[in-house]
Amino acid sequence: MKKPDEELKAAYALETPEDNKRLYATWAESYETTFAEAMDYRLPERVADAAKAFAVRGPMLDIGAGTGLLGQALVERGLGPVDGTDISPEMLGEAGLKGCYRHLFAADINEGLPIENRTYQAIISAGTFTTGHVGPDALDEVMRVTSPGGRLVLSINAEHWNAAGFSEKFEALSAQISSLEILTLPIYGASASGDHAQDAAQVVLAIKA
Ligand SMILES: C[S@@+](CC[C@H](N)C(=O)[O-])C[C@H]1O[C@@H](n2cnc3c(N)ncnc32)[C@H](O)[C@@H]1O
Repeated sequence: MKKPDEELKAAYALETPEDNKRLYATWAESYETTFAEAMDYRLPERVADAAKAFAVRGPMLDIGAGTGLLGQALVERGLGPVDGTDISPEMLGEAGLKGCYRHLFAADINEGLPIENRTYQAIISAGTFTTGHVGPDALDEVMRVTSPGGRLVLSINAEHWNAAGFSEKFEALSAQISSLEILTLPIYGASASGDHAQDAAQVVLAIKA
């Protein structure tokens, strides 16, 4: 039997969008049991709590929606409507079963989203801006599809934040952002085990100018 953090280590070892598509195609069906339950993965509900406290309103877009844990947590808190996008059609297939998204579409955020400029009042994300997945350059696309005055609630793995240069990217975007606050939140709960059990995320709360 695999250790609870074995799947996570495979995910952190990914290098390209194609690697992501391949891994998540095979992982989609068991992601919530072999990873989310096994590692006591709490980030989606913590990001949803932060979004509620930040008074986000819809329509909002969940970037890297995966199997829909964040969409579900948002809707449970009375937030929406929520659209979701992900590079993996298989992960979105699982998200669709939850019935909490208004619209789901497959896209690689690095290549651009099939969405008009300034479409969303909020962009939300949990677990996607992380090692081996999505880097800071995708924030240009996030800004493009956000309405002026719209809110960003984006979790970014703390190690990835430093290694990939997210501070520098937010500095470069500062003219487009009227307010920026960063929370540090634990990704996992008390029953997580292994090398990543204490990992944290930087959760960006920002308003587009
Ligand atoms: C760790 S999962 C997080 C899923 C969900 N947000 C959650 O918290 O459970 C990361 C997700 O990012 C997606 N992803 C990876 N690279 C991507 C890209 N370039 N564009 C869009 N989604 C991507 C993966 O397919 C996967 O569903």
